[in-house]
This record gives sequence, C-alpha cells and structure tokens, in this order.
Amino acid sequence: MLSYQHEYHAGNFADVHKHLCLRLLFESLLKKDKPFCYIDCHAGAGIYDLESAHARKTAECEQGIGRLWGNGEAASLAGVGAYLGAVAALNPDGQLRRYPGSPALASQWLREQDRALFMELHPAAQAALKKHFRNDPRVSVHTRDCYEGLPALVPPAIRRGLVLLDPSYEVKDEYTSIVALTVAAHRRWHTGIYVIWYPLLHAARHLELQRALEASGLHNILLTELALGEAGETSGMYGSGLAIVNPPWQVDAQLAELVPRVAQALAPGRGHAQLRWLARESVA
Ligand SMILES: C[S@@+](CC[C@H](N)C(=O)[O-])C[C@H]1O[C@@H](n2cnc3c(N)ncnc32)[C@H](O)[C@@H]1O
Repeated sequence: MLSYQHEYHAGNFADVHKHLCLRLLFESLLKKDKPFCYIDCHAGAGIYDLESAHARKTAECEQGIGRLWGNGEAASLAGVGAYLGAVAALNPDGQLRRYPGSPALASQWLREQDRALFMELHPAAQAALKKHFRNDPRVSVHTRDCYEGLPALVPPAIRRGLVLLDPSYEVKDEYTSIVALTVAAHRRWHTGIYVIWYPLLHAARHLELQRALEASGLHNILLTELALGEAGETSGMYGSGLAIVNPPWQVDAQLAELVPRVAQALAPGRGHAQLRWLARESVA
C-alpha cells in the first residue's frame, strides 16, 4: 500500500522546479494550434491546501512557492509569470493558501482542442482528482497503476504530446523501473516528450536512473537540476532533477536562462543549477 502523500510537500522547491519546467514545455506545445495530449502518470490530488495540518507540519512551501510569491523580479522571468498566474488563480484574495499540482496547472493551460489523461493509485488522491476535474470534458482520470496504464494508453489519439512521470521513489528500484516504463512507452510512441522527475539526495540514487537512461538506447535526453545547497549539507532532499526525453527546440536555452535565476531566488547565495545533455543524437 502506498503511504506517500504529496500534501506534505506541495509547493516545495522541487514542485517549483518541476512545474516551471512543465510550463516551458507547455509553452512550446502551445505555439501551434494543433492539439496536444498531456499524460500525467503520477497525478496526485490535483489541488493542495497549504493551510492543512499536513502542509503546516513540514512548511515546505515556505522554501518553494513562498519565495516566488509576490517576488516581482522572479515574476518577470520567462515562464514564471504564467506559472505564478496559475497559482494566483487558486488564491484570488492574494493570500497563498492553495497550490495547484501538475493536473491543475495543466488544466489551466490546456486549450479546448487539447486533452489530458491523469493516472493515480492512492484512493484519497484519486477521489480528490475525480472531484476537481469531473466537469472538465478535456480531462479523463484513470484510477490505475501507471506501470500498466501508460503502455496501454500510448500512443494517444492525438499524437503530439507530453508525459510526466513523477514517482515518489518509495520503492528504491523505482529509480530504474521508471526508466524501463519510459522505454516501453517510447517504443509505442517515440515522438512524445517524456519528463521524469527525480530527487537529489545524499545517497545519490539518481545516478542509477541516469545510468539506466544512458544504457536505454533513448536519445536526446536533457537533464536539468536545481539545488538549494550541496549534497551532505542536509539529510533530506537538497535538490530536484528532471530528465527530459525529446525536449522541444530551444528548451535547453530557456532552461539555461531560467533555472539558475530561480535557484538564486529560492536560496540566495546558495542555490545553483546544472544543465546537460545525455545521449545526444548528432545532427548531421
Ligand atoms: C509526487 S506525487 C505527484 C505530484 C504531482 N505530479 C504534482 O506535480 O503535483 C506522486 C503521486 O503518484 C502516485 N503514485 C505512486 N505510484 C503510482 C503508480 N504506480 N501509478 C499511479 N500513481 C502512482 C502517488 O499516490 C502520489 O499521489
């Protein structure tokens, strides 16, 4: 049985990194009128109450969205304004009380012609997701395990699109099984964009994920990492990473501009970012 609940972590610095990158990827898909499909394999509850006992216990959002909220300088960066606008839509009185998870961000950014598929395994998160999106005809919520669901759902009827894989890594072999899932989906839908989130922890298990990606035969994988400090400074998560398979054109340059500045806004003087390609296909 799963015990992870994103309520404890919603709006933390890793969510900020992940959701800003998601916004840049959406912007690239939104450039064309042609519809696209967004698949969220680990959707979570969709919307989080930052005043709940769970959220207050960890107060993780204070080091995340709390640092960008009302920060005019950060809001002027490409992608950040639209992201903060989506958070503001849930907090119309200007007080930061609710935070949109990836499904709620996506539903704000999708157009009429676009579609979304959300998968979630935890019963409480499933119920919340179904409730939030019951009146949105663009969205279908699947109460299923993405390890079975994703290969069954791709390729989607709309062939342009993006898959977010955002596991909680409760099970340690998930660092490699998430890569195997991506490879299985890519075999069926090789033009899709795949985004895998991973934590940076002192134990450095993310290196297993990166080695598995390198050995997978997949090409064109961009890694973006944001850290609030150095490994070993904390026993918890010190950074957040995303592996992007098939990133759209110019997203590397946009991330190179954005992520270091966001890292500085989140942790002035300590925050830093890294961007590199893994298995880049040579362009003749
Ligand atoms: C990190 S949270 C997702 C956060 C969300 N993507 C966001 O950015 O707002 C991970 C979620 O994945 C769910 N989950 C874990 N394993 C899963 C699986 N195999 N299939 C579907 N959902 C899963 C967990 O219940 C949890 O709600």
